[in-house]
Amino acid sequence: MSEPALIDIHNATIWRGSTRVFDKLTLTIAQHERVAILGPNGSGKTTLLKTIIRELYPVVQDDSWIRILGRERWNVWQLREHIGIVSHDLHQRYRPTTTALEVVVSGYLSSIGVHGLLGRQISDEQLAAARATLATLGIEALADTPLKSMSTGQQRRCLLGRALVHRPDTLILDEPTSGLDFAASFDYLGRVRELAAGGRNIVIVTHHLNEIPPEVDRVIVLDEGRIAADGPKSSVLTADLLSAVYRTPIQVAEIDGYYLAYPGTGHSRKRDVLR
Ligand SMILES: Nc1ncnc2c1ncn2[C@@H]1O[C@H](COP(=O)(O)OP(=O)(O)OP(=O)(O)O)[C@@H](O)[C@H]1O
Ligand SMILES: [Mg+2]
Repeated sequence: MSEPALIDIHNATIWRGSTRVFDKLTLTIAQHERVAILGPNGSGKTTLLKTIIRELYPVVQDDSWIRILGRERWNVWQLREHIGIVSHDLHQRYRPTTTALEVVVSGYLSSIGVHGLLGRQISDEQLAAARATLATLGIEALADTPLKSMSTGQQRRCLLGRALVHRPDTLILDEPTSGLDFAASFDYLGRVRELAAGGRNIVIVTHHLNEIPPEVDRVIVLDEGRIAADGPKSSVLTADLLSAVYRTPIQVAEIDGYYLAYPGTGHSRKRDVLR
């Protein structure tokens, strides 16, 4: 039997409040694909990710489904063992007094913070694994430091630790480097590349082409709740396509497997190389 798709969305209609973000969206992502999702503000990227991780649900209708790893029904704890998530949104939901260790441990509870539960629901093994995760991310010294006393980059590494405690096969990253400086972004992306090289599925939403890891081979571009493009990086990340979707003149350059976007009209110079 063939392996089930990581994500199999068929004819899904998804609302946020009074906005219909997706109308009959169909999208499949196989396991072991590395995918980047791009699109203008409000195009539906976060809505799509929240639907995948079961924070949002599609309208129930005939001939419509969302299957994750072949299953339509999941409880959130089981799903987190397969899919780890890091997002700006999740980051903002943490209280500033939560410590690094508590952020990582909260991954076991699929909760925000641990609300005084440390030592009760958390086993010694889980605590040890959480500390080991902090060590892997180079922030073991911050175990008892509250988020408010860390840099944004350190805080974001705690969130990555939270996603990784279950050693999930899939990581979903929604603008994981927003607010990070070059060093912190590159460090973060280096860690994501290592995870990809280790065989993890990666689905990353970003506004910065240079933050698409070279390991990502498929790019999906959303525009107002529709898939404007979906294909290999080299055919999707073109000046013409991005200029049309973002409604502004964009040029694209490729260097060492990374892409850059910069403003300008000029000719459509796909796969331009800066020297
Ligand atoms: N909580 C909400 N209530 C109502 N509408 C919402 C809510 N969150 C988002 N929307 C609407 O849903 C649409 C898609 O938003 P979404 O957050 O998925 O976009 P996005 O592509 O992630 O944008 P960004 O690049 O700004 O993060 C937008 O029209 C937005 O206004
Ligand atoms: Mg978003």
